[in-house]
Amino acid sequence: MDDNSFAPLFSCENLSLDLGGREILRDINLEIKPGEVLGIIGPNGAGKTSLLEILSGRYTPKTGNVFYKEKNITSMNFHQRARIGIGRTFQTPVVPEDLTVGETFKAVRQAYKPYLTRFDAEYAADLVDFVVDDDVLNTQLKTFNRRKLLFANILMHKPELLLMDEPAAGLINSEIDEIDEILRMLSKEMNIAVMIVEHRIELLDTIADRVVVMDAGEVIAKGSLNEIIHSPEVRAAYFETV
Ligand SMILES: Nc1ncnc2c1ncn2[C@@H]1O[C@H](COP(=O)(O)OP(=O)(O)O)[C@@H](O)[C@H]1O
Ligand SMILES: [Mg+2]
Repeated sequence: MDDNSFAPLFSCENLSLDLGGREILRDINLEIKPGEVLGIIGPNGAGKTSLLEILSGRYTPKTGNVFYKEKNITSMNFHQRARIGIGRTFQTPVVPEDLTVGETFKAVRQAYKPYLTRFDAEYAADLVDFVVDDDVLNTQLKTFNRRKLLFANILMHKPELLLMDEPAAGLINSEIDEIDEILRMLSKEMNIAVMIVEHRIELLDTIADRVVVMDAGEVIAKGSLNEIIHSPEVRAAYFETV
């Protein structure tokens, strides 16, 4: 069976967005299959984060629709989307300042109905190899463990789709390799679809099944990393400006 015969898990069509009277996104169409890793690249200011804001339900688009499991979810907010299996991580890993690691897991468990158990928390921490004692203050964590803490808390909800905004930001190479390994395991072994926003194209090399290139609020190319690297349009818009 041809790969394209699988229905997408998640897609958007004709998305556009204006902010402060400026057009930020225009006519964005994309889709992701179960277990697929889709890279979204583009220079700073291309509109990648704004796109994730719409896809995760934090911004309302001017036009267009978002679909999850063939259902139109455009009017659902962030929390409703989280509940049906869409997890989102942010460019900056902001942890609750006055909580310990253990209190953070507990607060997230109890925000979920029905409550998640300690086993759910341990399972999620294991998935990302987060090994920090419960009584450590969040503010004592370095960037890598902040990212892992937030990531584990999202994985507790057993998402089927992850929307990740520059998960490698602020990490050193060995940490990026570890994150890539975790993402590969989540996609290939647990069939979780992962959409990764990244501005450094080389970081998608070992991880993305397929890549979408954005520039100035538009999708300018889609394909394998190899295809897009050799696209004249992408070279002109992306590499020459970085
Ligand atoms: N709240 C906002 N109000 C007005 N303009 C914004 C706002 N947020 C982002 N922008 C603008 O939208 C464009 C895309 O930004 P962003 O989505 O953050 O891009 P990227 O994540 O690709 O770097 C930029 O020109 C940015 O200045
Ligand atoms: Mg961004």
